[in-house]
Amino acid sequence: MTNKPMQAPDFLADYAKKLEASVKKVMAERKQVVEPRLWDAMSYALLAGGKRVRPALVLACFKACGGINESVAMPVAVSIECMHTYSLIHDDLPCMDDDDLRRGNPTCHKKFDEATAVLAADALQTLAFELLTHIDTPADTRIELVRRLAIAAGAQGMVGGQMMDMAADAGGVQSVLEVERIHLHKTGALIRYSCEAGALLAGASEKELHACSRYGEAVGLLFQIADDILDATATSEDLGKSAGKDEAQNKATYVSIEGLQRARELAENLRSIALEACDGLLKQGEDLQALADYILERGQ
Ligand code: IPE
Ligand code: IPE
Ligand code: MG
Ligand code: MG
Ligand code: MG
Repeated sequence: MTNKPMQAPDFLADYAKKLEASVKKVMAERKQVVEPRLWDAMSYALLAGGKRVRPALVLACFKACGGINESVAMPVAVSIECMHTYSLIHDDLPCMDDDDLRRGNPTCHKKFDEATAVLAADALQTLAFELLTHIDTPADTRIELVRRLAIAAGAQGMVGGQMMDMAADAGGVQSVLEVERIHLHKTGALIRYSCEAGALLAGASEKELHACSRYGEAVGLLFQIADDILDATATSEDLGKSAGKDEAQNKATYVSIEGLQRARELAENLRSIALEACDGLLKQGEDLQALADYILERGQ
């Protein structure tokens, strides 16, 4: 990990632009039928910036497995961004991490109120599933995506990981294996799902699906280790969210358990695993390698 943050690769900015256009379209279609304050809070949280890494992973894995028509994968990209945004709104609530700043703006409960934030997040979660039912693929692929998203987001995935994170607040986590377990659940599960979803949509072979899954698991853990490092080393201004929160809240992180130097070494190892996993993929696997670099060396 270098000291100077890496700029986002150009294709990430390109995907983010397309994603935002699709998010706006999805929300515009619902403007007449959703209660106005709820609609405002959902749109606020979804469109208030964000790196859009998970949608980019869907699209890059789709292409690395031979997918051509981006418009088939776009609803899945919007869906995962809805799910992720819901997780951020809940993560920021006073009963969880109690944060005021997200994506460079006041958190959803600060901008609106707690009840509105809880409900906007709930609505984004169900929207994520609804969007999967509209994809232009055979029904068995849609069902498989719904199944995998439910597992990745729920008690065996992100929600379970958030519970472990909250329980660890009380102290007592001593080993790196315990932190790894928390991170693989709270952050890794949705990231790995994003990669597998792109592969499944492209009709990937077993070997390609396995490569994307392995890549997703490595970058999922890498993503949260980098987040832990940034929390300890970057400024709130650069992050667009409050820095130094993990130490203040006595969180179990790679930095708190292993120290900064060792956390960086472990992150480097994961990057190598991620890069190796791309070997069996098509030329577009190069985008996945660039994303692994960015996930490690990003500045926010
Ligand atoms: C933040 O995710 C929460 C974690 C899982 C660490 P991101 O760093 O992807 O946040 P945005 O979407 O770019 O705001
Ligand atoms: C959050 O981890 C993971 C989620 C499931 C949202 P953090 O609590 O470290 O995320 P930030 O730092 O607030 O974005
Ligand atoms: Mg948290
Ligand atoms: Mg948090
Ligand atoms: Mg964090």
